[in-house]
Amino acid sequence: MSTYKQNMDKVLQSLKQKPNVKILAIESSCDETSVAIVENGRKVLSCVIDTQIEIHKRFGGVVPEVASRNHILAIDNVCKKALEDANLTYDDIDAIAVTYGAGLLGALLVGVNYAKGLAYSLNKPLLAISHIKGHIASNYISHKELTPPFTCLLVSGGHTAILDVQTYTKFSLIGSTVDDAVGEAFDKVARIMGLSYPGGVNIDHYAKKGQPNISFAHKNILAGTYNFSFSGIKTAVINYVHNKKQKGEEINIADISASFQNFVVSELANKTLNAMKDSKSTKLVVAGGVSANSYLKAKLQIECSKNNFELFMPELKYCTDNAAMIGACAYFEMLDGLACSDFDLTAKSTVPLGQ
Ligand code: KG4
Ligand code: ZN
Repeated sequence: MSTYKQNMDKVLQSLKQKPNVKILAIESSCDETSVAIVENGRKVLSCVIDTQIEIHKRFGGVVPEVASRNHILAIDNVCKKALEDANLTYDDIDAIAVTYGAGLLGALLVGVNYAKGLAYSLNKPLLAISHIKGHIASNYISHKELTPPFTCLLVSGGHTAILDVQTYTKFSLIGSTVDDAVGEAFDKVARIMGLSYPGGVNIDHYAKKGQPNISFAHKNILAGTYNFSFSGIKTAVINYVHNKKQKGEEINIADISASFQNFVVSELANKTLNAMKDSKSTKLVVAGGVSANSYLKAKLQIECSKNNFELFMPELKYCTDNAAMIGACAYFEMLDGLACSDFDLTAKSTVPLGQ
């Protein structure tokens, strides 16, 4: 163990007693370079997000190598801007937090190495944070009164799961996708219809103009369980579109979007509500990029109010990837005793749910 880590673990112990802890957090797991400064896990002093969406649009999706290179170009300026926006200097920062996984390895490595450099040169503790836990923590920023325990519906580009969140740092899995993540299915269905990357928000937009009047032929293999499968519906939509194109027929993007979205959101809502009833939970928290979906929000609002369940969703700006959620999560991890990372911290493309 390095002397740095030994010293910083003591600093972390003392930070637990400090009234106002300011954490500078770094997120670079996919195509957003983001740095935020968060106080006590709930108050965002600044959050800068430099998105690469326009760069990846022309490829129809994120190109990992291109993402890494652009993170390298952006990260220093994004970090300086975050300090400037918060009107702070490095001296005011108590600890550095960084997403170490899950995500694109090369992209993560940029954030991890930058964070290491900062932490070691400033002699401040370094906290390694899971991206998934970060998404859950985005709700602590948006809802100051929210405390665990609760049920969480995690819906992002890489994960889809129902979680039993017991504390700020501990949770267990109730159900998850057996194939595609829901965001991934949104993006692939959008792509086959010729909509630009990232597809989820475009499907959300077109669905408002259409009717859910198409029933795509597929087997709903996991009915009656808490697990999800989205590859069947995705393939059914792709086949439907190919078929229409082969016959030279027009496709109705609005109706396809509404029908696909209707099916997917019903699956998410029904299984989550069933899981809550079975486990006698009355508090639902939604996390991850797909929580930005307007129909998911509307459907969950109706279902939760019918059942007298409380519903919490992040503000739109904290639904998709951002560093503020990493800073929020890092504070609660620190209170729960997360140790300082040592020089050997590295990025991980996958992180088991729960770590
Ligand atoms: O959480 P996130 O920003 O990145 C990951 O951790 O994966 O989620 C990105 C995903 C993408 O698949 C994107 O299409 C989806 O969230 N998404 C949406 C909406 N906004 C973003 N999906 C459906 N409706 C939306 N409005
Ligand atoms: Zn994410």
